Amino acid sequence: MRLIKFLAVNLFFYALLKAPGLLAGKPVPSSVITMYMFFIVMTVLLVMTITDEGANGLFAPIRSLLEDPSRALARKVLFVLLPVAAALSVQYLSTDPGPPFELRSAHPAPPGVVRAYGKVYELDGLENPLRALEKENPAAFKELAREGGEVYFRNCFFCHGARLDGRGHYAYAMDPLPMPFTGSDTIAQLKESYLFWRIVKGGPGLPREGGPNISSMPAWENELTEEEVWKVILFLYDYTGNRPRSWKD
Ligand code: HEC
Repeated sequence: MRLIKFLAVNLFFYALLKAPGLLAGKPVPSSVITMYMFFIVMTVLLVMTITDEGANGLFAPIRSLLEDPSRALARKVLFVLLPVAAALSVQYLSTDPGPPFELRSAHPAPPGVVRAYGKVYELDGLENPLRALEKENPAAFKELAREGGEVYFRNCFFCHGARLDGRGHYAYAMDPLPMPFTGSDTIAQLKESYLFWRIVKGGPGLPREGGPNISSMPAWENELTEEEVWKVILFLYDYTGNRPRSWKD
């Protein structure tokens, strides 16, 4: 019977691929086996169905099972068993897929110190030096935030978006996506020192353990002055109506 021959040939090749693992303890990777088996099954199918006669011979048993009135019982049994087998295989054979492969922490723990602008910044307790003006001189503060907006729209909005929602026109080509600054669950949860670190050191400054960190966020320490970085931080909070997290909470 041709169907049995078809199964036997495929089984033979499957055994051949499995043999190194079973006999010599050097298994062929299962992804490679799957790929090879795909081509083998396809090739055997092609060879065996190249003539009408061959195709008919191969599919005749299947067709007879589906169509022959005398095999109604076998058909019914099959149509009950198939879904049951499928359900059982999902229930018992599926292994726990585990966490997604590319899980990355969006806000990895910052380092203790950041070296930039020829200085060493201890992040612990570091405040935005311009923040005090918010109470002392609100007009000057607004002006600084506005200047921070200029820094933003010259450098950041391509990625982080004109509305600061992380959807700039370059954003769609990026993985991970640029961070949004709008909403109460973004920079409102972060301290200004954290943003300072992220802006100055960018993607290259991310720790390895939070990875995979193939972030396209540039490191701005050579492009922006220290004051520009603090100003753009003022802008990010001011424009989105967010308050930075302070060292007290
Ligand atoms: C080339 C695109 C690009 C540009 C330009 C860019 N960023 Fe980013 N930025 C990203 C991406 C992508 C991320 C998310 C991945 C990451 O955390 O590094 C990010 C993350 C950040 C974060 C971390 C936010 C958080 O919630 O942890 C801050 C802060 C930030 N960017 C500020 C800026 C500022 C300020 C500028 C302009 C001076 C800027 N970015 C310019 C792509 C960009």
